Amino acid sequence: MIKIVKDTNPKIREKSVEVPLPLSKEDAEFIEEMMKYLKLSQDPEYREKHPACREGVGLAAPQAGRNVRMLVISYANPTEEDPNHVTEYELVNPRIIVNSIKKTYLQGGEGCLSVDEEHPGYVYRDFKIVVEAYDHLLGKKTHITARGYDAIVLQHEIDHLNGVLFYDHIDPKDPFKKIPGSVAV
Ligand code: CO
Repeated sequence: MIKIVKDTNPKIREKSVEVPLPLSKEDAEFIEEMMKYLKLSQDPEYREKHPACREGVGLAAPQAGRNVRMLVISYANPTEEDPNHVTEYELVNPRIIVNSIKKTYLQGGEGCLSVDEEHPGYVYRDFKIVVEAYDHLLGKKTHITARGYDAIVLQHEIDHLNGVLFYDHIDPKDPFKKIPGSVAV
């Protein structure tokens, strides 16, 4: 079972390496294991039995103990057409190829499975991005256009592959500063 690497471990700050494609059996099993862990983290019964496990919507490989460019994302994302829609990715070598000038941020601030302490403040991210990656769930290369919350989650997880944590983006002098034109989520 995966043991989450916390920000007290310097490994979390390392830049992760590209993953060879097609995926090796070992890498495929690892990303599937990450998704399994993420889904367990969303199960209240599991969390009750494993108090160290916290609920997450995304997990990057460095958090699971390997500094390789892989991440998983899963959360309920109801739309008008599909009230049961779940946004789910198993991304390998993700790359942001388009980004907006416009910013967005979570009103309640961000959290992270690797960060136990509170870090109050706004984390500004690009409102719209396009990500190019191999998606192991689809079994092919994909382009994801994401805005608002979806874009925030992707940028948070991709940051992990570069050793960056959410609180690096908080202005220590003015954690709740307002960027004009930015969109609160
Ligand atoms: Co995180």
